[in-house]
Amino acid sequence: MCLNTVRSTILGMGMAVPPKVLTNHDLEKIVETSDAWITERTGIKERHILEDGENISQYAIKASKEALERAGISPEDLNLIICATVTPDYLIPSLAVLVQEGLGASRAGAFDLSATCSGFVYALSIADQFIKANPEWKILVVGAEALSRKTNWQDRSICVLFGDGAGAAVVGKSTKPSQKGIIDFILGADGSKWPLLTLKGGGSAFPPFDDRLPREEYYIKMQGREVFKFATRVMEKIALELLERNGFSKEDLDLLVPHQANLRIIEYLRDRLNLPKEKVFVNIDKYGNTSAASIPIALYEAEKEGVLKEGDLVLLVAFGGGFTFGGVLLRW
Ligand code: ACO
Repeated sequence: MCLNTVRSTILGMGMAVPPKVLTNHDLEKIVETSDAWITERTGIKERHILEDGENISQYAIKASKEALERAGISPEDLNLIICATVTPDYLIPSLAVLVQEGLGASRAGAFDLSATCSGFVYALSIADQFIKANPEWKILVVGAEALSRKTNWQDRSICVLFGDGAGAAVVGKSTKPSQKGIIDFILGADGSKWPLLTLKGGGSAFPPFDDRLPREEYYIKMQGREVFKFATRVMEKIALELLERNGFSKEDLDLLVPHQANLRIIEYLRDRLNLPKEKVFVNIDKYGNTSAASIPIALYEAEKEGVLKEGDLVLLVAFGGGFTFGGVLLRW
């Protein structure tokens, strides 16, 4: 248990998704699939997708403005902006500086963080360290992804899974550290499994238009079943370790907010932790897997729907390509 008097907390959240909705029935017209297959295997019914001409920075800025408003913080008060994303508008500049400009956050440093679907958890734990070192700082943590732009729309094993969106949180010092704030976190990675989930094209090994690489390698490729096995194992391990090492039992947990990758992974975790349905937040049916945006969008909705209440013990757990994984335990 952290006895440090400074504890960071989320002061306000925001979210934004593109208005365009792609349903499972829409996908039936694009690839050989069915609403029944997608629903049964993933829990997804629909996802939001960027229209041509839109960029994810628009939604990252929109979500950030809402988070600032709800936190009662002006953009000039921000000291740092961290954007967790693997799908920024550009490689240069970063998404974070586009957000900085869009907000007019003239005093903030800004950088992107690449940790796939674990990105928000990674970014939140970094913000926590900065607040402990500089308690008066205000930090904007954003998870924003446009995976539709990295999706092979001919690959039915991939194109049914992902959606676009952004979630944002303003992080600052908790005024009631014993009752509210981040308690502990775990970050991890297993680089030996990187070939199971890749997007090879467009990096420096295979720059755009490199003829050595087949066209489909410019999109996400995944060995879904292997990823599934890894995810279930690692999420359970993180959850138990975070609870145990902070003196909590599974029963103490008020809400689990897992990365929304697949309903079956979430249900497996729920069973293993022996949690009732109402203690596990699920919104994958509406958004699909939005990678680094999935946890902040889920947290935002959990609060808005009144599922998340002040003082609740909350556990965020994520995993993603790389592999990366992580968890944050906090009092809301
Ligand atoms: N519609 C219909 N049939 C399909 C579809 C589809 N969209 N996709 C695959 N199938 C077929 C396959 O071809 C296969 O057919 P076969 O038996 O004739 O060969 C059958 O369905 C079963 O395929 P599997 O891939 O074994 O299906 P599985 O039950 O494993 O579900 C899924 C696939 C949903 C991808 C699952 O493995 C999964 O969710 N894995 C985890 C993915 C994940 O969480 N990724 C997160 C990281 S994302 C990131 O980091 C950016």
